[in-house]
Amino acid sequence: MDYQKLAQRYDTPLYIYDFNQIKANYNALKQAFKARKSLIAYAVKANSNLSLLKLLGQLGSGADCVSIGEVRRALLAGIPNYKIIFSGVGKRDDEIAEAMEKEILYINIESEAEFHRVEEIAQKLGIPMRIGVRVNPNIDPKTHPYISTGLLESKFGVDIPTAQRLYLLAKKSPWLEPVAIHFHIGSQLTDLGPIKEASQIVADLARQLHRLDIDIRFFDVGGGLGIRYKDEEPIAPYDYAQAILSTLSGTDMTIVCEPGRFIVGNAGVFLTRVLYEKETPAKRFIIVDGAMNDLLRPSLYNAYHEVEVVGKEGEGRPADVVGPVCESGDFLAKDRPLPPTEHGDLILVKSAGAYGFAMSSNYNSRPRPAEVAIEDGRDRLIRERESFEYMIEKEVRFL
Ligand code: LLP
Repeated sequence: MDYQKLAQRYDTPLYIYDFNQIKANYNALKQAFKARKSLIAYAVKANSNLSLLKLLGQLGSGADCVSIGEVRRALLAGIPNYKIIFSGVGKRDDEIAEAMEKEILYINIESEAEFHRVEEIAQKLGIPMRIGVRVNPNIDPKTHPYISTGLLESKFGVDIPTAQRLYLLAKKSPWLEPVAIHFHIGSQLTDLGPIKEASQIVADLARQLHRLDIDIRFFDVGGGLGIRYKDEEPIAPYDYAQAILSTLSGTDMTIVCEPGRFIVGNAGVFLTRVLYEKETPAKRFIIVDGAMNDLLRPSLYNAYHEVEVVGKEGEGRPADVVGPVCESGDFLAKDRPLPPTEHGDLILVKSAGAYGFAMSSNYNSRPRPAEVAIEDGRDRLIRERESFEYMIEKEVRFL
């Protein structure tokens, strides 16, 4: 990839996505589940760029959404309503109503209070709604605490006895049609054990529900498949699928999975330019034009992303790659033995396709970066760099 050319053409900081890689990732996962009916519902939150959603939609992907904004994006990008799922612990009334009016596949319910809310809204609109219940199987996924969601102390889902009760209530309700069962124990999972254990627990529950004549048709295993950032050993899609399939014997449910990171994580890089080097007796800093507002993962989770200086080899004194934001927590990488750099050198931050742009902000009044897609060797802009005027647009008329 000619990063110099891309930086010249689109400036920095810049997100670059390899659409061929995204296709390959999607196809690998779809293929792994081929023994059964499956729906890959891409987790829009990982990267919600419309062109990227369109690409996935064309491949046959559905969408797992956590706000009505994501539902609207998915529809706009051409993903059909019957492949869209709406999850999340705090849905507003208007979001629930709009999802119903748009006749999406199902809403995943995360609490008893939400259950009653959804029922009431369905009744008010006169639209019976398909639902799933997110079950919390109480499994430790062994990942970062901020992205682990399957333990009873987490805010997500309901415990098994509550789930059983909700399914029975739904069965009796003319306004709710229980069609799915859902769990998601965490993100960036690299250990198959907890996934299999959770799947077993939830599959047993689904079988119980079938015996009660509750027609659960979708077994929704959430997302969470991890990728390699440093030296992790990611789970192979085939092993992931086999672990889940092995818990489903005797049932005929369609598998739904909601991968985000696996689809886009390794298909994206973040390109930033060196502004200065600064050496103190204690430390070496490489100050770049990208920052925590563009790529928050290192600051928020102490996440590791590989970095490299484009076109330069060798090692130098370990350096922190830091941005211009006024926070000591503003760093992209720490203590990396990078070669000496000069003003204008390019630094590549790898595996930045998931939760990169999606978690960006305008902190420090920094316009969000542009996004570029590479497909079959050709590059094209898929989101313009924000301008100063765009950033202040919602404020100026109150001046
Ligand atoms: N389904 C549900 C219900 C989820 O909560 C999530 C992610 C996914 C699917 C997709 O998970 P994935 O396949 O991408 O692991 N910002 C964090 C990750 C937060 C994940 C939140 N939920 C990060 O940068 O690591």
